[in-house]
Amino acid sequence: MTVLLDGKKYSAKVKDNLKQEVTRLKEVGLQPCLVVILVGEDPASQVYVRNKKKAAEFIGIKTIDHTLPKTTTQQQVLELVEKYNQDPSIHGILVQLPLPKHISEEKVTRAISPLKDVDGFHPLNMGHLFMNEPYSLPCTPRGIMELMKEYKIDVVGKNVVIVGRSNIVGRPMAALMLNDDATVTITHSKTKNLKEITKQADILIVAIGKALLITADYVKKGVVVIDVGMNRLASGKLVGDVDFDAVKEVADYITPVPGGVGPMTIAMLMKQTVEFAKESVK
Ligand code: GUN
Repeated sequence: MTVLLDGKKYSAKVKDNLKQEVTRLKEVGLQPCLVVILVGEDPASQVYVRNKKKAAEFIGIKTIDHTLPKTTTQQQVLELVEKYNQDPSIHGILVQLPLPKHISEEKVTRAISPLKDVDGFHPLNMGHLFMNEPYSLPCTPRGIMELMKEYKIDVVGKNVVIVGRSNIVGRPMAALMLNDDATVTITHSKTKNLKEITKQADILIVAIGKALLITADYVKKGVVVIDVGMNRLASGKLVGDVDFDAVKEVADYITPVPGGVGPMTIAMLMKQTVEFAKESVK
């Protein structure tokens, strides 16, 4: 029988545990605090940011929000980031991506102090991750690792195929899997014979942003399928990069969309904020 990797359920458990931990931290005078900066009116980003704030409120993490107009200059964003870099009561700084075109995402992610980089996007944190000495981890790949651990899916020596090479998911995902002794292949939009490669996967992680790309003939029987995609069809339906209904007939484990990876990302952001708060008083 196919097992559904229920990120919604497991993330609720993670958040419950964090809530208890934050209650204890507050009793000893430590209030975890996250700054969330959103520039412009990208509808998907607005939903993500709203969900992040909701989770923080539930757990007891303080958030400071900056919802800025799309005309905000790069200099203004950099100055805001620097202000919070200097503020010891702030433990995490998150700038929601994508940013409007006139603002360099590279410059902004590099401006965030690596010690407050809750997204794990700073090149120094990426470097630490690739050397298997991580400090901050990108939240989506970390959420995928934790979800698989919860379901006791072992990755040692497994063929892990990743579809997508973004800095947010594909690349750090590969590093995390390699650190845990998987054999890793990264594929992307220029890969030839994608189907032949994905068919070799014991664990297939798809983060390419193409609705329903992975159909049943892309996978072997018994595969574990992790779908990071979030695509809105013309009908309004929200679907992943995987054709869930067809692939679930072949897979042993599969994440639903929504309710799989998405809620895990937010739970990991919260976890990392609490970890950074504790780190700040060590
Ligand atoms: N945009 C899409 N995913 C993410 C994320 O995990 N963090 C930030 N800051 N922006 C994103």
